Amino acid sequence: MRIAIDGPAGAGKSTVAKLLASRLGYTYLDTGALYRALTLAALKRGLLNDQTGLVQLASSQEITITSTSNCQRVLLNGEDVTEAIRTPEVSCATSLVARIPEIRELVTAKIRELARGGRIVVEGRDIGTVVLPDAERKFFLTASLKERARRHLREAQKRGFTLSWEEQLRQIEARDQQDSSREVAPLKPAPDAVIIDTTDKTPDEVVEIMLRHLEGSS
Ligand code: DC
Repeated sequence: MRIAIDGPAGAGKSTVAKLLASRLGYTYLDTGALYRALTLAALKRGLLNDQTGLVQLASSQEITITSTSNCQRVLLNGEDVTEAIRTPEVSCATSLVARIPEIRELVTAKIRELARGGRIVVEGRDIGTVVLPDAERKFFLTASLKERARRHLREAQKRGFTLSWEEQLRQIEARDQQDSSREVAPLKPAPDAVIIDTTDKTPDEVVEIMLRHLEGSS
């Protein structure tokens, strides 16, 4: 079975996807990491504003993902960039890179290849709608803007970045806007996705809801 989990930044997708994968003994795949790795490559070469150069660069990059149920490492041309792709700079720049249709095609093909064997929880923005429209189960997580900004601020602080509350809110709003309004594969729930509002729920509570849905529909 392939389980798709989509939703905006800060809705709790990563935490919940890892927990769910662990509970099921499945592999976990965070697809944002692929866009982030390509963005890091572009930033290193100063190519962020050169769409043609970016697409050329993306097709020459070798990204290797090693995943288990609760951990994923990302190699870019053999270099481990798992931590380097999580900076606020990469987070902001990634939604610009993820708008480019040719880049989405490349990443979509890669995700499909990685998900081919099934028994996988795939987390992203367009998994249920575009990448794996035939995924056996689909969830779409949401949460209030304030709660999502709070979660992100906590994550950023854990990683040693200091952002103000206003700056965090602004960044989340900008990413929402970019992710939802792009022409190709905009962020939206698949018609057959189960929508879960995680604002007042712990990750365990969300996973329990998901497991009930999985049991109910199997
Ligand atoms: O989930 P994340 O924060 O790591 O995602 C980083 C960016 O990549 C975000 O702006 C949305 C984009 N993305 C996407 O467009 N499609 C995906 N399947 C996954 C992420």
